[in-house]
Amino acid sequence: MRTPLIAGNWKMNGSTALIEAFGSAFASATLPAHIDIVVIPPFLYLDAARHAFKNTPLQLGAQTLNPQHSGAHTGEISGRMLKEFEVGYVLVGHSERRKLYRETDEQVFDRLVAALDVGLTPILCVGETLEERDAGSTMQVVLRQVGHVMARLEPAQRLQVVIAYEPVWAIGTGRTATPEQAQEVMAGIRAYQAGFDTSLAEQLKLLYGGSMNASNAAELLAQPDIDGGLVGGASLKTNDFYAICQSAG
Ligand code: G3P
Repeated sequence: MRTPLIAGNWKMNGSTALIEAFGSAFASATLPAHIDIVVIPPFLYLDAARHAFKNTPLQLGAQTLNPQHSGAHTGEISGRMLKEFEVGYVLVGHSERRKLYRETDEQVFDRLVAALDVGLTPILCVGETLEERDAGSTMQVVLRQVGHVMARLEPAQRLQVVIAYEPVWAIGTGRTATPEQAQEVMAGIRAYQAGFDTSLAEQLKLLYGGSMNASNAAELLAQPDIDGGLVGGASLKTNDFYAICQSAG
């Protein structure tokens, strides 16, 4: 049985007030017994969140990390620093980083390895653009992104990776993949992993991301290969995020 995971990627949004609001809302929330819930605020709020979330089930994630552990990299944050602030998860390869900051598959791989090196759980984000979907190359694109990383890891490392399928055309657009579309791609990712090891494929945690909200979460999360969600916009409202977490129970 794979424990459901709901992660809220705040992107470049949020405030200390929102951190406090999540701390209060989730301290008294009744949640499903077996679920991991991760809030991923901008770096600057991680320390405040660490304190505000003390009496809640909320865990912490970061939005990226530098592939190096320390050194002359002005403006960057390393995995080792994230660990010091009790961060457990880190996104790598989010489509906004691939597009806006030109991150390549190779750089995504380096970041993911740096995360594994320090004991962070990487959430590897993959997904096709609308043009790629229309051209019929969805599976090819997604498996290239997955394969570039997974094929080069040791078996034990592969077990530590969470994969988030986020079709780029569904991110922040209000246009969600249908449960069938998401399931099809995610079953393909799991089948690819089975090529390495069937028990790894069984254990691999797969998240769906792209306009997931309180109304569509239950249907998406009911799909056999969807183990959780990577939520953007709807993770900025305590009620919506709480409702999505409830749907994962
Ligand atoms: O990482 C989460 C994401 O990109 C989805 O964003 O706003 O479409 O839920 P959103």
